[in-house]
Amino acid sequence: MDTGLTGKTAIVAGGSRGIGKAIALGLAREGVDMVIAARNLDALSQTASQIAKETGQKIVPLACDVTGRAAVDAMVDAAVEALGGLNILVNSASLPGGSPNAVGRIETIVDADFLDDFDTKYMGALRCARAAIPHMQAAGWGRIINISGGNARTPGNLSGGARNTSLVHFTRTLALQLGRDGITVNCIHPGATRTERTAGVLAARAQKDGITPAEVEALDYAVGAPRTNALGRMVEASEVADVAVFLASSQAGAMTGELLNPNGGAGNAVYY
Ligand SMILES: NC(=O)c1ccc[n+]([C@@H]2O[C@H](COP(=O)([O-])OP(=O)(O)OC[C@H]3O[C@@H](n4cnc5c(N)ncnc54)[C@H](OP(=O)(O)O)[C@@H]3O)[C@@H](O)[C@H]2O)c1
Repeated sequence: MDTGLTGKTAIVAGGSRGIGKAIALGLAREGVDMVIAARNLDALSQTASQIAKETGQKIVPLACDVTGRAAVDAMVDAAVEALGGLNILVNSASLPGGSPNAVGRIETIVDADFLDDFDTKYMGALRCARAAIPHMQAAGWGRIINISGGNARTPGNLSGGARNTSLVHFTRTLALQLGRDGITVNCIHPGATRTERTAGVLAARAQKDGITPAEVEALDYAVGAPRTNALGRMVEASEVADVAVFLASSQAGAMTGELLNPNGGAGNAVYY
């Protein structure tokens, strides 16, 4: 299937590792040149070389902390300069789950940590979109893809839930504001997704419980286990990337303001 993405240009915020890196690779395989942005330039440079080597696309690493407007504006300007325009923005710059001091019972919440989480995930996405939109409007075609998360639908994590829910509202509102400019805005709710950090997390739990990492994972996805899903296995970052590539593609041109859930069928609620 021709996704219509060859020759398009992108910024993947949070593209140095995890879900953002998988999306960057997925887009590059479809012929997209891009900037990947995050705070650590060494990690970005390594990822950029790896993706460029595998795909032959132009992958430019740019250090940027999305918690600052000036830094984001400068990053987007530099991206447009390096790529000759901008068609696609992926917002995946944020630590998964939220700060330990912002996710628990209300009496444990540290205001500054909660606001830091929100500043990164929600305001970071807003800052990147605000800077990117004029370039998409100039091209008359654009895609904004916000990586949110299933915590939005699961009570329990105050910071993680609030940031993710707010991104859904952001997605829908921007979709209404930008549709007539040829720009679609959509959101993805990953569930628990295997990234570079997963092996370490499983290993730590395995050591604590005196079993192997494979056994920890099998228990998580057993029938009836609290973390399980309909597929009975963890979702890979590349599978989330496949959905993002679809949302960026010409095949998804009629879809905007929507939310897709590549989470293996996690949760019991019926959404309509
Ligand atoms: N993995 C999951 O199971 C899962 C599940 C549901 C939702 N999600 C969501 O998916 C998104 C990505 O998660 P992930 O698992 O891919 O995380 P990850 O592996 O930790 O990657 C996060 C990326 O964001 C960058 N980043 C973090 N803070 C930043 C900042 N202030 N400015 C610029 N870049 C920043 C990181 O690089 P630097 O540290 O170098 O800046 C890195 O490139 C998050 O919003 C997360 O909540 C993930």
